[in-house]
Order: sequence, then structure tokens, then C-alpha cells
Amino acid sequence: MPETRRPYIAANWKMNKTIFEAEAFLDGLLGRLGDGETEPEVVVCPSYLSLVWVVAKCADSPVRVAAQNMHEEPSGAFTGEISAAMLVDVRADAVLLGHSERRALFGETDEALARKVPVALEAGLEPILCVGESEAERDADETEAVLSRQLEADLAEVAGADLHRIVIAYEPVWAIGTGRTASPEQAQDACRFIRGVVSQRDAEAAARVRILYGGSVKPGNAAELLALPDIDGALVGGASLEVEDFAAIVEAAPR
Ligand code: PGA
Repeated sequence: MPETRRPYIAANWKMNKTIFEAEAFLDGLLGRLGDGETEPEVVVCPSYLSLVWVVAKCADSPVRVAAQNMHEEPSGAFTGEISAAMLVDVRADAVLLGHSERRALFGETDEALARKVPVALEAGLEPILCVGESEAERDADETEAVLSRQLEADLAEVAGADLHRIVIAYEPVWAIGTGRTASPEQAQDACRFIRGVVSQRDAEAAARVRILYGGSVKPGNAAELLALPDIDGALVGGASLEVEDFAAIVEAAPR
């Protein structure tokens, strides 16, 4: 793995953890992490309501903080939404965009993502863009077509030279929350394919962009997945809710 691709392990807490629970988790995690220099990059994605507290708790620690979504408009009549400026205001570092649950359950579109990704970058937030195929799409041999379509649409407005500033999470929908992990070969093939799509835009960005695998990552399978050449990290849902499991995944990352 090139030196520039520092391993990246992110905890997607989804709609879990009160502020109190988030703080208890971080007390445990921060006690387990090293000095941050040689560690993988560690990111937690709490609910909006605990963002401020989690940012404060992680100050002076190597842990960075991401929101789980944001709106593409700077402000306006969008009841229930959060802007990039609001995330910057609370000192969030990053933002998950296009998670499959947002796409499937809340109508997230590639058109909106094409705006969200550059808006996040311009605001100084690191976008963690999620892409991945459904089970039916994989069965129909459409995985690569789906990944191309999502990446081309969602990254259309980002200059090639800026693509390395995005973190891309490959999350096959059929592996999320199901206990079914993609095989190492399936995960590596898809992540290599994603790097190839980025490379068509900018070869240097492709060599630098971090590509994560997500979908039932757990302590027992993390080391094998994280050792694969095109997998630079993990986006972890269920197994990020317990400190012991998440810390074990962080420790499984190559360093
Ligand atoms: P999972 O979720 O680890 O529970 O499969 C991953 C994700 O949705 O990011």
C-alpha cells in the first residue's frame, strides 16, 4: 500500500447511541488508541444530535468526526435538513454521503449526490461517498455497471485532481447488516474496479484515493479484508457499536 494511503477505519453508528452512550464508547476507545501517528485514521459518525459532544470529546485525540448526511443547499426551506456550513460550524471533519440506507429508504439520488460531494469539499469537509450494488444487481452481473454509474454521476462535478480528497466506501447492499460479508475476492475486485474508474479521470488521484470496504465487517474478518491491495479501510456499522469489537477492527488494520 503506498505510504500516502493511510488506513481509514470509520464507525457508522446510524440511529444508535445517545450522547451519554457515545461518550462512554469514546472513553473506552480513546483509552485503547495509541498516539495517532502510526495508527490508522479513525473516524466516528454519530447522530447529528451528539455531534457537538463527540467533537468536544475527540478534541486533542486522533479520532475524527463525521456526520451521516447533509443537504446540498447552503440554507433555506428544507425542514429537517442540515447544511455543510452547519457541520463546519460544529467542527465536524467529514460527512458520509450516499449511504445505501439513505438511497433506499430516504430517496437519496445521484443527482443530489453530484451536488453534495463538491459542496462538502468546498466547505472543507471530507466526503465519504458510499456506493454499492444490490443483491439483484450482483446476481444479474451488473455490479461494475452500477458502480460506474454511481461514481460517474456522484463525482461528475469534482475536478479529477481533487478526487483523492474523497474517501470512497464500497458497500454491497446485500452485505450491510446481514452478517453476509463479501468474499475477499469480491471485495478486492470491486475496490480495484472503483480505483480503475477513478483512474480514468486522474491516475494520480486513483493512486491516492482511499477506498473502504463496508458490509458486515467484524473482528473476525477485518484483518483479511484490510490486507487486500485495493482496500484501504473499513466502514463499520453493527460491529462499531461495541468498543471492544471496533477497537479490534482498528487494531487489525495494517500499519
Ligand atoms: P454493517 O453496516 O457493518 O452493519 O454491515 C455497514 C454500513 O452500513 O456502513
